[in-house]
Amino acid sequence: MAEVTLEPVGRERRLTLTNLFQFYVHDFSEQWFDRPEGELGEDGRLQEYDLLDNYWTEPRHEALLIRADGRLAGFALVNAYSHSGLPLDYAIAEFFVARKHRRDGVGQAAALAVIGPRPGLWELAVARRNIGAQHFWRRVAAQLAGEAVEELDQNDERWNGITLRFRVG
Ligand SMILES: CC(C)(COP(=O)(O)OP(=O)(O)OC[C@H]1O[C@@H](n2cnc3c(N)ncnc32)[C@H](O)[C@@H]1OP(=O)(O)O)[C@@H](O)C(=O)NCCC(=O)NCCS
Repeated sequence: MAEVTLEPVGRERRLTLTNLFQFYVHDFSEQWFDRPEGELGEDGRLQEYDLLDNYWTEPRHEALLIRADGRLAGFALVNAYSHSGLPLDYAIAEFFVARKHRRDGVGQAAALAVIGPRPGLWELAVARRNIGAQHFWRRVAAQLAGEAVEELDQNDERWNGITLRFRVG
């Protein structure tokens, strides 16, 4: 398995995240067949992520690149937005592993490296249609908190999907 490392993204690497987001949103757009989001613009690009700048201006926001054997393999964005509306310390806002590197343990190693060293109450919200990610995050959460993971099934104005909550440290 590749050696997985994390690297904080400074604002000077904003373009790298913007580019990776094209692939990320394209993956999601497959699940948005009945929604207006995810259309390509005339320039052949997907819409940009309008909250990206928050990762360099707002407190409790962190942007990390994921590397596999030093190669760019994805990103993790951490913030403190609560999909459940319940209190928390941290949330995974966005998380992406490039297709080239999937199913090789890169996502799991990266997720453990992001969450493990940040003690507090974590929340992971996963969209209802994102079945692969539900399997992935349940497994990660179980590794971090075992039986103590609380799983909410939400279908309300805040979120449609599962929300995993657990304490680290
Ligand atoms: C979800 C995602 C991050 C997983 O990354 P990954 O590097 O492929 O995950 P790993 O190889 O570390 O997987 C660890 C385990 O999670 C589970 N898992 C991962 N992807 C899965 C999938 N598509 N279907 C079912 N289980 C999956 C498996 O148990 C896997 O172990 P195994 O390969 O030995 O069976 C990646 O598929 C991705 O970026 N998807 C698109 C964006 C996305 O959905 N992000 C999450 C937003 S909440």
